[in-house]
This record gives sequence, structure tokens and C-alpha cells, in this order.
Amino acid sequence: MLEGLLVDLVPYGDRYLEQEHRWLNSEAWFWAAVGDRRLITESTLKRWREENAERQGSQPRTRVMWGVQTKDGKPLGDIAMNWVVPHCRLSMLGAAIGEPEYWGGGYGTDALLLITDYAFDWLDMHKLWLSTMGLNVRVQRQMAKVGYKLESRRRQAFRADGQWVDELSYGLLREEWPGRAAIIEKLGLKARPPKEE
Ligand SMILES: CC(C)(COP(=O)(O)OP(=O)(O)OC[C@H]1O[C@@H](n2cnc3c(N)ncnc32)[C@H](O)[C@@H]1OP(=O)(O)O)[C@@H](O)C(=O)NCCC(=O)NCCS
Repeated sequence: MLEGLLVDLVPYGDRYLEQEHRWLNSEAWFWAAVGDRRLITESTLKRWREENAERQGSQPRTRVMWGVQTKDGKPLGDIAMNWVVPHCRLSMLGAAIGEPEYWGGGYGTDALLLITDYAFDWLDMHKLWLSTMGLNVRVQRQMAKVGYKLESRRRQAFRADGQWVDELSYGLLREEWPGRAAIIEKLGLKARPPKEE
């Protein structure tokens, strides 16, 4: 478990799996899956899980995934090192808060600080990166706050809600990472009381 100011990162267990169908059919999926608005049925989700389990059985594991929960234990979504390449010490990150009313409240940044610190300080990664669509201002703001650098813009890489959008890639090198405590101090982040239901 990684303990943050607003969220904790915990093993992605049953409490998260139970929410997945709802999260995958929420607005979060449109943003996380760069413009995909398809309806995901329970049977599609079951098939994806079976296919994933089969793949994981035959190939080395390349994904480290956490559940993101509030300090009082409410599951919000996931954050993951989705594509770990051990011999290069590289990893592509991904995150989705499945509860849209929590977007913009600092929860995603808190989770990103935790996973970045873990990846550099514990797993000795050399570089972390992620990509998003140009429409996703929350991710762009998050990248700027935490110090990830914009590395590339691939033009008209995705189609979202009837328009072509660019793909933005961000990266952070280990040597550029000042540590979680330094970013918390720079941004003036503080713990706060649990959100009222
Ligand atoms: C991306 C995500 C994980 C970020 O987490 P979050 O908790 O929303 O992020 P934060 O609140 O820490 O930071 C978002 C920033 O964007 C700002 N923001 C939010 N909506 C905005 C808007 N419409 N325009 C401009 N800025 C906006 C927030 O104010 C905040 O900046 P601030 O701290 O300076 O005020 C979360 O929004 C999410 O899961 N979204 C849906 C799925 C997704 O996009 N996944 C990522 C795919 S690459």
C-alpha cells in the first residue's frame, strides 16, 4: 500500500473488480480509451478478463496495477505501470478515476506522485511516459504540475466525438525527478478531510 495525502494505492482486488463494469461504461472510459464510447457488456468484460488471464499465463508480467482509494477507503479507479520493459527500465503509465465527480480534485495528481516515486525510488526505473489525446486538459495540467515533459505531438492520431485529435506524449527521466516531497512542497499540497457523501 502506498499512502498519499488524498488517496492510497492498494492492491487491485475484488472491491475494484466489482466497480469495473460501471467505470468502463462511464465518461472515464471515453478519456482513458482516447475517444471510445462503445457500450461494454458484462460478457465483453468477462471475455477480456479471460483473455488477459490467458496472456498472463503464457508471457512475463509487464503490468503493475493499483486501486486508487480515498483516505476513507472509497474505491475511485486505477493507476498502473501498464507496459514495463525491465531491461530498459522504462514504463508507460495509465490512470482512470472512474467516478467523474472526483475529477479535478487533486486525487489523480496525488496518485501520480505516489506511482512516480515508487517507480523511480523502489523499482529503479529510468524513464516513465504516457500518452493522451489533445482534448484531455486534466492530464496536460497534471503533467505540468508533476514535471513530466511534452515530448511529442502526433497529429490527428485519434478520432473522438467526430473530430480528429492529436496524441500528446509526456515523459520524465529519473534524473529529473526531485522526489515526491519536493513536488508536494512546491505545489503546496495538503491532506484534507474526507469528501462529504
Ligand atoms: C486524468 C485523471 C486521472 C486526473 O486526475 P484528477 O484527479 O482529475 O486530476 P487533478 O485534479 O489532480 O488535476 C487536474 C487538473 O486539471 C484541472 N482541470 C480540470 N478540469 C479542467 C478543465 N476543463 N480545463 C482546464 N483544467 C482543468 C484541475 O483544476 C486540476 O488542476 P489544478 O490542480 O491546477 O486545479 C482523471 O481526471 C481521470 O481519471 N480522468 C478520466 C480518465 C482519463 O482521462 N485518464 C487518463 C488517460 S491518459
